[in-house]
Amino acid sequence: TMNGEKQKLTIRLCGPRGFCAGVDRAIQIVVLALKKYGRPVYVRHEIVHNRYVVEGLQERGAVFIEELSEIPEEHRHCPVVFSAHGVPKSVPADARERNLFYLDATCPLVSKVHKQAMRHQRLGRHVILIGHAGHPEVIGTMGQLQEGAVSLVETVEDAQRFVPPTEAPLGFVTQTTLSVEDTAGIIEALEQRFPEIQAPAAESICYATTNRQDAVKSAAPGSDLFLVVGAPNSSNSRRLVEVAERAGAKRGLLVQRASEIPWDEIGDISVLGLSAGASAPEIIVDEIIEAFRGRYDVTVDLAITAIEGENFPVNRELRDVPLTNA
Ligand code: F3S
Repeated sequence: TMNGEKQKLTIRLCGPRGFCAGVDRAIQIVVLALKKYGRPVYVRHEIVHNRYVVEGLQERGAVFIEELSEIPEEHRHCPVVFSAHGVPKSVPADARERNLFYLDATCPLVSKVHKQAMRHQRLGRHVILIGHAGHPEVIGTMGQLQEGAVSLVETVEDAQRFVPPTEAPLGFVTQTTLSVEDTAGIIEALEQRFPEIQAPAAESICYATTNRQDAVKSAAPGSDLFLVVGAPNSSNSRRLVEVAERAGAKRGLLVQRASEIPWDEIGDISVLGLSAGASAPEIIVDEIIEAFRGRYDVTVDLAITAIEGENFPVNRELRDVPLTNA
């Protein structure tokens, strides 16, 4: 304003937000492996979809690769960690064949979905996976069964068009990070056409996804802008932006760092919603709040819809390494 006073801004800070237990565990696995075995520790695929986390681990001696064949002969004794998203069965098989020492950081809740897909098959069902093509979790889940045993359904239109490749009864599982609402619509479309289709014995969308979407839903109505901290390839973060807009935020935006905030486009706002995807560290949320404090007279309101206590233990091999905050 003319007299230099800052405009008032309420930040509705969602809780739960940010790191889930699966991401926390995956990062711990890499950090503990570096401590126990020294540099380098190979990591197949971005351990979690966050550049800040990946760069931090690289500095400590993690080496990110896409395929196991990238590990040089003389480093075969070094551990290789599989990312939280999970891997097709062919990956650990390949690792054993190459005599590699691997540590699986697949989130236990992704492994649970793998087990449900295998259970459907054991019970004679053809498996439908609801999820996004090309996402590493989808590649991993499809790769639990032999080729052709899983059909991917991405949208309601896919569900309406789906032609089962066999006469077998159907069973579905989903990606863990989908929009709760969209998924319900897809399942409904499938059930309308295939009333006998079987749900998994346990819900596929994980607690962290559900809780973060619930918090965003409660904070979104009346927000002039809703920022979600997350990477463009982070499925759960992108869903939070959609949930915010659908629940009444005027505009939703995904940002990786405070430096990406498009100040010129933001215009006149008085209520800002703020959350972070399951792979986004809290330090970036702080950074963003600080950036707004530099330009606005900020009040932070908490929009807390659940308290989480989940905590997944690391691999047995790493349990003797002393845990520190390092
Ligand atoms: Fe696991 Fe859900 Fe996080 S599946 S990695 S707890 S988003």
